[in-house]
Amino acid sequence: MKTLARTVAVCAAASAALLLAASAACARDDVPDEIARRENPVTLAPDKVRYYAKQYRTKCARCHGARGDGGGDEASEQEVPPADFTDAAYMKTRTDGQLFYQILMGGGERCAMPAFGPRSDHGWSEEKIWYMVRFVRRFAEPPGE
Ligand code: HEC
Repeated sequence: MKTLARTVAVCAAASAALLLAASAACARDDVPDEIARRENPVTLAPDKVRYYAKQYRTKCARCHGARGDGGGDEASEQEVPPADFTDAAYMKTRTDGQLFYQILMGGGERCAMPAFGPRSDHGWSEEKIWYMVRFVRRFAEPPGE
């Protein structure tokens, strides 16, 4: 009986995940090819890290978590859970351009992430977003790199 209950639970979870995937309308699922392929034009020099750490703490950590592991205070309220930036295997599947696009555009219909691009309330320049992509990448890098 126990096994059956578990099987049912697993199946329910799997179909819920499928449903979510099928209807997820996050910007990150729909990145135009040209942007997905863009190279990051900036490098995050050590003197800039502190600034972006502060931006991250004040604008991103409530969802993505102070340590970038997707465990922010508001993470559980999100229909699609915020990514775990410390998951190196997952992060390798994402190009800088894809990360850039999500920060630029925000989540879209079903992802509650705010947009940060030039035309959003936050009004970040594209350059600032590219720097933030570099900063977010640091969570999956061994310390000292
Ligand atoms: C209100 C919650 C919330 C806030 C605030 C937020 N995000 Fe997100 N973010 C999400 C959700 C939900 C997703 C969609 C799931 C995912 O891809 O992680 C997401 C996705 C992303 C992605 C795409 C990851 C991928 O899988 O390709 C990046 C990059 C990102 N966020 C960066 C940021 C940065 C940088 C900030 C702050 C400047 C920020 N987010 C603020 C909720 C949030």
